[in-house]
Amino acid sequence: MKLLTVVGARPQFIKAAVVSRAIAGFNERRHVDGRIQEVLVHTGQHYEDGMSAVFFRELGIPAPAYHLGVGSGPHGQQTGRMLDGLERVMQQAGPDCVLVYGDTNSTLAGGLAASKLQIPIAHVEAGLRSYNRAMPEEINRIIVDHLSTLLFCPTTRSVKNLSCEGITKGVHLVGDVMYDSLLHNQERAGQKDGILKSLGVRPGQYALATIHRAQTTDHPETLRNILVALGYLGLPVLVPLHPRTKAALRTAGVDRPSGEVRLVSPVSYHEMLALERHARLILTDSGGVQKEAFLLRVPCVTLRNETEWEETVEAGWNRLAGTDPDRIVTAARASLAEGPTDPGHPYGDGHAAEAILEVLAGV
Ligand code: UD1
Ligand code: UDP
Repeated sequence: MKLLTVVGARPQFIKAAVVSRAIAGFNERRHVDGRIQEVLVHTGQHYEDGMSAVFFRELGIPAPAYHLGVGSGPHGQQTGRMLDGLERVMQQAGPDCVLVYGDTNSTLAGGLAASKLQIPIAHVEAGLRSYNRAMPEEINRIIVDHLSTLLFCPTTRSVKNLSCEGITKGVHLVGDVMYDSLLHNQERAGQKDGILKSLGVRPGQYALATIHRAQTTDHPETLRNILVALGYLGLPVLVPLHPRTKAALRTAGVDRPSGEVRLVSPVSYHEMLALERHARLILTDSGGVQKEAFLLRVPCVTLRNETEWEETVEAGWNRLAGTDPDRIVTAARASLAEGPTDPGHPYGDGHAAEAILEVLAGV
């Protein structure tokens, strides 16, 4: 079978690396007829070396068969360009199935292009809901889930969310590919511990923060508030900056924070895992980083009012603090003071990619 995979944004390279590796393993065990041929398409949503190529190099992802070079732009324009390019590529490649990941505009365009051409869609990370439709990602997820033939859910909650929307056919609870990824990359990430020294921090004695959601970066006052809160934690705070945030901080006039807040360039995945593992506390509005904090047993403060990864909150490892500086500081202090709890294993057994392939191979 021919599988066309659409990726475009940083977390999608990480997720696709896991499944692509599992495809290679699957093919080794099959005769030629039963093999899966993967055609990788990069929309170009993320394009700077530190947001794209670094992940291909570090995770050994093969070069994409097609690169659409779409770049940045308003949502409609960006998604429209992707749709145009993806339709052509899909017509040319003639896949049996289109595989999309997560909730970005690349996911939406992949889903829309495939559905117009009546190609079955497989959605990895199906069924997640924040129930906040002001997030562009929430719209993308809902639409793609409703277009998909195969829905690969990371958690029992995501299966339930789909069921509440009447989607029960083609739903498979497989676990979370980000957990697979973390387990696979942990050892190599350990070799990147030198990043702590080069960024001037010591294990267990710093906080790590990431911010990139539009709800946060589009409002200068919100950004200023977050930086003020980070300055009150009583710890050095490393902030690897998404390019969107870097630009927004400049606009908000807070790109040179004083004291312990250190703005740095985005880091590679292995470097990020190393920084996360040794952090005393993580503060973030990222979906993936919240979950990595949980999986690495580092307390997390989420700079949003809701999360699609509720299990992390229920297990006591994640506090939702929004963007109010007092709430952030209070949540951070509570997280630092609290002892560890047993978080359980809500994200599968680390073999989500294999479970996905077993299903795909049967299509
Ligand atoms: C996108 C996803 C978001 C995901 C995030 C992962 C959507 C709607 N959002 O958000 O769900 O969490 O990726 O990181 O798809 N930029 C650069 N260089 C780059 C990429 C982006 O400078 O290589 C800047 C551009 O100014 C661009 C802005 O960042 O306008 C936002 O990029 P975009 O891909 O539109 O959205 P993200 O915020 O990255
Ligand atoms: N990440 C990274 N370098 C960074 C910041 C994040 O490799 O400088 C990784 C992080 O470890 C996680 C993924 O990128 O695996 C999360 O991506 P992001 O926060 O951009 O998007 P989201 O998960 O919110 O969609």
